[in-house]
Amino acid sequence: IKPSFVQTWGRNNVQATLPKRKRFAHKGTFGKGLVIGGSDEMPGSVMMTARAALRSGAGLITIGTTRQNIPAIASYVPEATYKTVDEMDFLSDQYTSVAVGMGLGRTEKAFSLIEQVIRQVKSLLLLDADALYYLKQNLSLLKEREYPTVLTPHAGEMARLLGITTERLLLKPFTYSKAFAKEYNVHLVLKGPFTIITNPQGEQFVITNGNVGLAKGGSGDVLAGILLSFMMQGACLITSLCNGCWIHGASADHLIENGRYSKYDLLATDLMEGIGSVFHTFS
Ligand code: APR
Ligand code: MG
Repeated sequence: IKPSFVQTWGRNNVQATLPKRKRFAHKGTFGKGLVIGGSDEMPGSVMMTARAALRSGAGLITIGTTRQNIPAIASYVPEATYKTVDEMDFLSDQYTSVAVGMGLGRTEKAFSLIEQVIRQVKSLLLLDADALYYLKQNLSLLKEREYPTVLTPHAGEMARLLGITTERLLLKPFTYSKAFAKEYNVHLVLKGPFTIITNPQGEQFVITNGNVGLAKGGSGDVLAGILLSFMMQGACLITSLCNGCWIHGASADHLIENGRYSKYDLLATDLMEGIGSVFHTFS
């Protein structure tokens, strides 16, 4: 029997691999990203994802959402450009990376949009929240993708994808993650108090920072934005995902350790101010 150890991804790993910002870079250097999500019922989700991506170094962000949602969120993310979900053309628009699902809802219209995205987007793609819900009945679509796909489920979403209970998943989260990532050829970020990151080859890392202040609606949307931004900035994909998850956790830890917020009152939108402080700790 071979013992297997899963490495914890920590500060030293981030220090060694964080992409450097070159003096003569321009916005194109840092990628063009698209965030598709939000609905009249859940307007804030895409706002948080887009803002977190920009705070994490993304060059350009476009938000695809409902027509009504655009004026509701535009003043919170004036740096982004906007498209309504009906006018998007995934075959001709070129993005470095795309994230879909946050706050999109579970309507037929949302599901057909998600299917179009999975089939047509020719770049790195991150699927979260309602896109994962849709995926359960359409897992075979993943095997047809020619570009890397990242899934970011929490334990409940992962258990549903596997068709098992959350309790059962949590008995062997590393084993289930590895089998799923290999079978469906995806990068998997299984979120929780510990976050497990697995690539399609079955390599795994675990992130142990962050705190219970993150157990609040919206923190997953912020994580999706940080991950999208690192995906856009090139580098090895599993490294980008590990760095993104670490910075998300570190941001929450920083805000609480410095007395800015507590484990009770921390909000997902507060994480945005923590991200900059965390970047500052790297030379
Ligand atoms: N300690 C450390 N990190 C934590 C903890 C904890 N106790 N609890 C949560 N987190 C982190 C997770 O690792 C993850 O990065 O906070 C984030 C939570 O993400 P989600 O579970 O996706 O939560 P949320 O943002 O509320 O999702 C919003 O989308 O996924 C759906 O069903 C979900 O409707 C909900 C919506
Ligand atoms: Mg979520």
